[in-house]
Amino acid sequence: MRRAKITIIGAGNVGATCAHWCAANELGDVVLLDVPQTENMPKGKALDLFQASPIMGFDSRLVGTTDYAETANSDVVVITAGIARKPGMSRDDLLSTNAKIVTNVAEQVKATSPNAVVIVVSNPLDAMVQRAYQVLGFPSHRVIGQAGVLDTARFRAFLAMELNVSVEDISAMLMGGHGDTMVPIASCTSVGGIPVTQLITPERLEQIVQRTRDGGAEIVSLLKTGSAYYAPAAATAQMVEAVVRDKKRLVPCAALCNAEYGVGGYYVGVPVVIGSGGVEKIVELQLTDSEKAAFQKSVDAVKSLVATMGQLLASA
Ligand code: NAI
Ligand code: 2OP
Repeated sequence: MRRAKITIIGAGNVGATCAHWCAANELGDVVLLDVPQTENMPKGKALDLFQASPIMGFDSRLVGTTDYAETANSDVVVITAGIARKPGMSRDDLLSTNAKIVTNVAEQVKATSPNAVVIVVSNPLDAMVQRAYQVLGFPSHRVIGQAGVLDTARFRAFLAMELNVSVEDISAMLMGGHGDTMVPIASCTSVGGIPVTQLITPERLEQIVQRTRDGGAEIVSLLKTGSAYYAPAAATAQMVEAVVRDKKRLVPCAALCNAEYGVGGYYVGVPVVIGSGGVEKIVELQLTDSEKAAFQKSVDAVKSLVATMGQLLASA
């Protein structure tokens, strides 16, 4: 069987760690690409990771490069290129710089891997995935944003810490943008099948939700030199796996919603089924009135971010 070809653009913290998870789980052969100014950094990281394979017992080839020719005809392309958040910066502060970077990257991916499923990670996520979709011109099911898998994992981790139970027993769903307006769906959050609302008071649950919303900022304030990467990379690798192994995972991701949830043509976090075709289905949940209102607020924030990005790109 032909091995999947996975290209990861941006060989920084998230990109290199994602390469690590993808290779260690034998999801395919990995090409790690960064800008020429980094000289041989992606080559060094790929070689180092490959040299771990005889020890750890995984069989994936890894190549580092600054040349898109080596990424040609990838099955999956992950975009982590861009600058990351530093203390005091919001995700939206990254908008202008990363919009230009993602535009450039998407142009090259379009030319070299026209049939790939593209997973965007760069922030601010909801605007960057919209930009990648505009530039790539691929069908929307082949352009997906990673945020919900990470945000849900954080929520699950905090709930496991609160209840002193295994993370394995926690199921959760968060919708909306990757930002301060993400929306937890209480009816889809359970612990060993027990609705979370039977185990945690509404006040305490709201505190845990708020910690989840602030989850990225919490790591930034601890690291001081950049933003989270282990969990973001693991979340991205799970999406890569869903594509290359046609897993049909039902997870929250940023997908282009037209009529769905009445969004009208924007990328926003919703439950989707991911398989070899990318987003194979957008699942429409019955939301309560308060969830609908919170989701609409989140969609409005995404729309405003995309509008600002359009103005910044037009004036550049
Ligand atoms: P990093 O600074 O460690 O790595 C970014 C890499 O992108 C650098 O190596 C840089 O040289 C490279 N790069 C810049 N311009 C490029 C271009 N035109 N082509 C190819 N590579 C280019 O940053 P980190 O921590 O890896 O984060 C990457 C991005 O992912 C940031 O925008 C960050 O905010 C975002 N992020 C998103 C998350 C999500 O859940 N969606 C979670 C964590 C990070
Ligand atoms: C995070 O949530 C920075 O978006 C990144 O950690």
